[in-house]
Amino acid sequence: MRPLVVFGTRPEAIKLAPIIRLMQASSEWDPIVVSSGQHREMLDQVVNDLAIKVDLDLSIMRESQTLAYVTSAVITSVEGCLKEFKPELVLVQGDTTTAMGATFASFYQAIPVGHVEAGLRSGNFLDPFPEEMNRQVVSKMATWHFAPTQRSSENLRTEGVDEAAIEVTGNTVIDNLKWVIEQGLGRSSFKTDSSRLLVTLHRRENQGENMAEIASALRALCGRGDVEVVLPLHMSPQVRRVLQPELDGVSGMNLIEPLSYLDFVRTMNDADVILTDSGGVQEEAPSLGKPVLVLRQTTERPEGIEAGSALLVGTNADVIAHECARLLDDQAWYQQMAHVKNPYGDGTSALQILERLQRDLTQVK
Ligand code: UD1
Ligand code: UDP
Repeated sequence: MRPLVVFGTRPEAIKLAPIIRLMQASSEWDPIVVSSGQHREMLDQVVNDLAIKVDLDLSIMRESQTLAYVTSAVITSVEGCLKEFKPELVLVQGDTTTAMGATFASFYQAIPVGHVEAGLRSGNFLDPFPEEMNRQVVSKMATWHFAPTQRSSENLRTEGVDEAAIEVTGNTVIDNLKWVIEQGLGRSSFKTDSSRLLVTLHRRENQGENMAEIASALRALCGRGDVEVVLPLHMSPQVRRVLQPELDGVSGMNLIEPLSYLDFVRTMNDADVILTDSGGVQEEAPSLGKPVLVLRQTTERPEGIEAGSALLVGTNADVIAHECARLLDDQAWYQQMAHVKNPYGDGTSALQILERLQRDLTQVK
């Protein structure tokens, strides 16, 4: 079986890696692994840790690239790959422009698409922007919908997707986390015994004023004097332009470069509280027993909030500082959030996805 597997950003590589590893180790699969190169340094860094082989790199990234540029570059360059390799199917992951563009390119050539992490919905096209539109567009064209949870499956059915085309598999991010823990973790970036906060920020709808407001909450938390913050800076100039002037030189604050995947997992494991607007981090943290404060107005991952491991705190500085201080100062509350079963899967998602594809593809032949 000859699928083309496409990714372009850090989280897609992380979440497709368990599938690619299984395929590359199997004699029944002959995958063509393509990176759009929507990300560069941040992608190369995690790919090095993931034990996967990339067959082709389309290297499309430009500094401060626009959404229109990324969309057109992915569609055009993936179209070239499809013509050259003629795969039986294309696998995409999530809600990035690479996933959406590769789906369009496949649809235009009538090649079926399997969508990994299908059915997440915030219900607001402007938040997360443009991801909510990207994932709905992919759902319209995909043949297989690999939903991580029952709720994501229900979202798809509500939109009219045939139940037979949906497989609830859990999220492959958990497969990868298990694999990393088996490999042995990297190095933690925390240096002291103070209360340890790990922060990541990058979403477009947070860039600008919201990010400045979040930075003000982090300054207030550092002002307590008993806190160490590690913040691996996303490489987007729109993120750095706000966070560096607001946070550089603040006592207790460590602004660092993005971490390799093994080092990031170790740093998550060493943190007391995680504050983030990342999707993947919200899914990983409960497996490591870490409470998460979600720095967004909406989330398409309500399962963590309902399970009690995450709290949607928005971007108001006072609310963020208050909720974080509550976790640091109220042990009973902390323990309640820290001890929750991960609702995003049991680490067997990649296998379930491959078994379903294998079943359907061999039936067709
Ligand atoms: C993209 C995804 C988002 C995902 C995020 C993961 C879209 C529309 N957005 O957002 O869903 O959550 O990746 O991190 O697909 N840059 C570098 N080096 C890198 C990566 C980025 O320099 O390795 C800089 C470049 O100047 C680039 C900018 O960051 O132009 C923005 O990158 P882009 O992929 O367009 O958007 P993200 O905000 O990373
Ligand atoms: N991550 C990483 N290094 C870092 C920060 C994050 O390897 O310095 C990993 C993290 O464990 C998660 C993924 O990157 O699996 C999340 O990526 P990001 O926040 O960029 O995107 P999102 O998940 O929001 O789409």
